[in-house]
Amino acid sequence: MTAAENPLDWDTSAAADAYRDRDMRLAEQLIFPGVLRRLAGGAGPGRLALDIGCGTGAVAAQLAHIGEWMVQALDPSADMLGIARSDRPHPRISYRLFDGRALDWLGDDSVDAAVCCLVYCTDPDDERLAGLTAEIRRVLRPGAPYLLADLNPAATGVAFSTLRHGEPEAVYGDGDPVPTLLRLRDGTMMTSATYYRSLDRYRSLLTGAGFPSPTVELPTLPAGGTAAETPAETRTAPYMILTTHA
Ligand SMILES: C[S@@+](CC[C@H](N)C(=O)[O-])C[C@H]1O[C@@H](n2cnc3c(N)ncnc32)[C@H](O)[C@@H]1O
Repeated sequence: MTAAENPLDWDTSAAADAYRDRDMRLAEQLIFPGVLRRLAGGAGPGRLALDIGCGTGAVAAQLAHIGEWMVQALDPSADMLGIARSDRPHPRISYRLFDGRALDWLGDDSVDAAVCCLVYCTDPDDERLAGLTAEIRRVLRPGAPYLLADLNPAATGVAFSTLRHGEPEAVYGDGDPVPTLLRLRDGTMMTSATYYRSLDRYRSLLTGAGFPSPTVELPTLPAGGTAAETPAETRTAPYMILTTHA
């Protein structure tokens, strides 16, 4: 894997177009099942779930297909939302542009579940994420789940079959930019801008907003064959899933 010269900023049409064509196999195997399993029991007529930082709408579409969630899918990128609306329309999904922080059209205790998938790693602004996390806490009904899935900060530099976040051997601290290579479906790579946060930093963003400390899941694929033959994702988790409740 080789990094392109300039990582793409997320709020650009070039990033949205490239992200539309990403190879989603690892996310589909290692993130979506864990997230959906935790939310399947809560679905029902009129129940509202938020997909915050929905990008091209992959998680929102999965949510709409399990049970009967009404889904508000939110993103600060108009280009991402344009692709989501065209690729993944659904009568129970409403896509909405927002500023990445305020959920001011939603009342206190009015939402039944929230998911934020691969979003915190793309936002360099701790203060905005602290504000967003407090807003998520405010709008969730008491006891409602918040699932925060993201890159595993303990896996920087590992070459997984569809991504590598960070350079091999490099050591990153909170806030450092981390060049992230994503494989596209045609086998080419895109380099995107992500930002390192330690697990403790994620925990403090959640507890600082009033959530209890989360459970942490580090999913890997089942091993088969010799260590030399098996991909890195059988030994190391590319992603983590943090679960907490309002
Ligand atoms: C890597 S994409 C993930 C998209 C989608 N959740 C998925 O898993 O396919 C990151 C998305 O987060 C959005 N984003 C960045 N900062 C955000 C913030 N503060 N609040 C909400 N979304 C944000 C970006 O615009 C981008 O669409």
